[in-house]
Amino acid sequence: MKLSSISKLGLVLIVLLIVNKYYVVIEAAPVTASSNKEAYVTLLYGDEFVLGVRVLGKSIRDTKTSREMVVLVSDGVSAYAKKLLQADGWIVTPISLLQNPNQVRPTRFWGVYTKLKIFNMTDYKKVVYLDADTIVVKNIDDLFKCGKFCANLKHSERLNSGVMVVEPSAELFNDMVSKVTTLYSYTGGDQGFLNTYYAGFESARVFNPEISAEVVNSKPVPEMERLSTLYNADVGLYMLANKWMVDEKELRVIHYTLGPLKPWDWWTSWLLKPVDVWQVIETSVLDAATIGIWLRNGRFWPLLPLQCLVFGMYSFVFKYFCDYSSLSPYLCDGFRGYSLKYGQHG
Ligand SMILES: *[C@@H]1O[C@H](CO)[C@@H](O)[C@H](O)[C@H]1NC(C)=O
Repeated sequence: MKLSSISKLGLVLIVLLIVNKYYVVIEAAPVTASSNKEAYVTLLYGDEFVLGVRVLGKSIRDTKTSREMVVLVSDGVSAYAKKLLQADGWIVTPISLLQNPNQVRPTRFWGVYTKLKIFNMTDYKKVVYLDADTIVVKNIDDLFKCGKFCANLKHSERLNSGVMVVEPSAELFNDMVSKVTTLYSYTGGDQGFLNTYYAGFESARVFNPEISAEVVNSKPVPEMERLSTLYNADVGLYMLANKWMVDEKELRVIHYTLGPLKPWDWWTSWLLKPVDVWQVIETSVLDAATIGIWLRNGRFWPLLPLQCLVFGMYSFVFKYFCDYSSLSPYLCDGFRGYSLKYGQHG
């Protein structure tokens, strides 16, 4: 009995490995240029955020969009990670970092002006940019109807560069680059720069996909429009009231802005329920390959004993409570789901 289920598992693993291998080959097709193309775009500076991009990609594909997905990768990204992303359906485009002129800032801010390069993606008519710590929970293809530039206003006065719709233009990009050294940036990076560049953004009109399409012919396209919170709902917003301050069914994009905490730090779901949504998608992309990247990076090893300890305690405590009490139905449901999925139940 035991032996046969182990050998079945082995067989499934071998099949998965073979499928995975061929998948990489098939998906690595060459890119052809056309100025009518539209794409979802994200940026990756190093292997650390690969899982974020993979989850984002899966979430985009789940919305059944026909748009391309492009990931701009800088030198810090390994060939192995690029291959994985390609297999996920991303078009991997290498870019060099755009120099940060405000060198007084700490090194981790270097290269943050690189995000401006999405304005230079002139192979595309329109791109929807999403940070690697966002996920799409409902189709957002209507964003491609945005005129020239759309983004969210956060904290009532500042433009957030985590989700943006951009009409790439060499002229616009060159103008930006020429001003990078002179315009003030409160963050010392792209977001602060864009706030100065798109001055008066807080009074821009709110983007409405139904209106925008008709207005194009009769009125000039506005230089900038604001997006509804639904397109960039940050979990900070959720934390304020421990629920979404907007209609949850209408949510489009969740942005995991937790300061240094990221949803791929697996323990963050203990702090914050919306991370569950991210982690449900994660389980569908998390495979030996991604874990391989962690192992190569060495980020995993120093914390391993601690992780085992915490995980063991977590399982033990939850098993006890869920078996012997009716406490916390939400937590126990989650725990039972986990146990079932990994065959540890009963
Ligand atoms: C902007 O795009 C053009 C055309 O693809 C390219 O030649 C140029 O190097 C790009 N500029 C930067 C700074 O990446």
